[in-house]
Amino acid sequence: MASKVHKAVPHLMTLADLTEPWLLPHGALAKKHASKLKLPSQSLFNKTIALLFSKRSTRTRLAAETSATLLGGRALFLGRDDIQLGRAFIGGMCQGIFARVGEHSEIEVSPRSPTYVNSRATRPFPVLNALSSLWHPTQILADLLTLHEHAYLFEENGSCGPLTVAYVGDAANVLHDMLVTYPRLGHKLRIASPPQYRAPAEVWRRVEELGCDKDIWWGEDPKEAVMGADVVVTDTWISMGQEAEKAERLKAFEGYQVTEELCRLGGANPNWKFMHCLPRKPHEVDDEVFYGPRSLVFPEADNRKWTIMALFDNLFGRWTH
Ligand code: CP
Ligand code: NVA
Repeated sequence: MASKVHKAVPHLMTLADLTEPWLLPHGALAKKHASKLKLPSQSLFNKTIALLFSKRSTRTRLAAETSATLLGGRALFLGRDDIQLGRAFIGGMCQGIFARVGEHSEIEVSPRSPTYVNSRATRPFPVLNALSSLWHPTQILADLLTLHEHAYLFEENGSCGPLTVAYVGDAANVLHDMLVTYPRLGHKLRIASPPQYRAPAEVWRRVEELGCDKDIWWGEDPKEAVMGADVVVTDTWISMGQEAEKAERLKAFEGYQVTEELCRLGGANPNWKFMHCLPRKPHEVDDEVFYGPRSLVFPEADNRKWTIMALFDNLFGRWTH
């Protein structure tokens, strides 16, 4: 992804696929788009990006559709009932895919599992992960941009780093992309989850390959996890597709709600801030924190647009057949 026009098809499944220098330029580019509020480029002119979403979405879909328009192209939303995934000859008609899937294997692009780039596809094209069971890369780019934009809030850290980031809750796609990203940017991660909800082996393998494991503390006690935290993050306890596990998950995560009291007792930085990818349920974070002055959730949601636009520009806009 270093050259202006890609030579190989630039897929992005997780931020583990990006080298460190790419993690911040995406953010920087997004920031530029946001601050200037002018058309960044028309790199999607005459291009159509297929949004293959087999799960619901508000922020990611809105960000993708509006970004494609601002970049001079079109996003074509194709929901679960509109298309047969993996069987469409999308390569002949679209110039990229932004896909939200269930199992990660449904999106993985490799010679062994060529879901989209199948032997009958007329042309190859970039595939960007809009959320899978394992990863949610575009969310973490927005989170990083949000932290950089609010660096002034972290008085002792000044330039947004190094931060101590605590995650309290379920080990799911959002956390997985944090695991392969934050330590590479100098931030420490402290995580609390029930023992039966930990990162799967395939995710942990990427964490270790990138050397991120040495800056990750992982236990069961939420109070221990928030010790010294500059930022506290959580996600839903019941991800899309896990609805049948609701009762057992609500029980397992009792005591994991993010509150002022939890962070005071645990010894978080008195100036701690809160992030959540949304949508949010009150059991994982109470109203006082969610709607209070510590919360960065609304700028965080807004930043989905600028970071997705930066990725569309870089992946789809610069790819030529
Ligand atoms: N954070 C996020 O991915 O939101 P949506 O599910 O609404 O797209
Ligand atoms: N972990 C959540 C993230 C939603 C944006 C889910 O997969 O449903």
